[in-house]
Amino acid sequence: MTGAFYLMLKERTGHMNHTLGTEESIRRWDRFADRYAAVHTKDGDLHKEIFLNPTLLTLIGAVKGKKVLDAGCGEGYFSRILAGKGAEVTAVDFSRRMLEIAKERTASDLPIQFTYGNCEDLSTLQDKSFDVIVSNMVIQDLANYEKAFQEMHRLLVDRGEFIFSILHPCFVTPNSGWEKTATGEKLHWNVDHYFYEGVYEQQLGDEEKMLLFHRTLTSYISAVLETGFSLERLVEPTPSQEMLQKYPTFEEDFRCADFIVFKLKKKG
Ligand SMILES: C[S@@+](CC[C@H](N)C(=O)[O-])C[C@H]1O[C@@H](n2cnc3c(N)ncnc32)[C@H](O)[C@@H]1O
Repeated sequence: MTGAFYLMLKERTGHMNHTLGTEESIRRWDRFADRYAAVHTKDGDLHKEIFLNPTLLTLIGAVKGKKVLDAGCGEGYFSRILAGKGAEVTAVDFSRRMLEIAKERTASDLPIQFTYGNCEDLSTLQDKSFDVIVSNMVIQDLANYEKAFQEMHRLLVDRGEFIFSILHPCFVTPNSGWEKTATGEKLHWNVDHYFYEGVYEQQLGDEEKMLLFHRTLTSYISAVLETGFSLERLVEPTPSQEMLQKYPTFEEDFRCADFIVFKLKKKG
């Protein structure tokens, strides 16, 4: 995204914030769902295989016999991994097309209940009905993250755990990206507009511009603490040696972090 484009968007959002919220984000996810799912295998996409799955699975620990909510399940690969490990999974997404794909990809004998819903308001689900909630790369896609945190808190049993991953807000900001030489060599990663809080557009795939919502790291941490969670762990995932042998180009991910993962506990 160019600086000029970003500033135009910022100006527009001042007047049109209501049109660039969660509903518009989901309209775009509905349109993008098939192309998104096409790059997901049983381990998700490459970034999930390399960075997010090992981190999330370590932080979540044993799930056998536990009630787990996958909040924003997408095409469902992580729900299937958890169900394969013995969890009783409820998988929620606000994109109807994404949920259709998730159902098509899931064997009927896996214990996964797919449910349509918005993580900002999951009033169809009962208080204290989950031991663990996982939300993999969803919270930066919705407008009201404080409300989503309140819903996750309501749905967890006392001392239940909420583990979520997001784009790292210190490095992935409106207009961030590699500064390159004329021949394409990567010089350094540029960050700009860090203190901007709100919506911006990000090109995904060839055509679709998705909405992302940027907040500072302080805002995220303040919101989870104010909601009533304790912060148990923060992880900025890097590739393991095993993954680097398989995918050597990911060496550059030691230069800055793409993702951050929170492990929270509901005080009780
Ligand atoms: C980046 S994808 C991640 C999907 C899945 N968690 C994964 O790791 O493959 C984001 C997903 O969040 C869903 N989503 C976005 N906003 C949502 C909301 N407010 N409530 C529920 N799902 C939402 C989108 O439809 C999309 O499936």
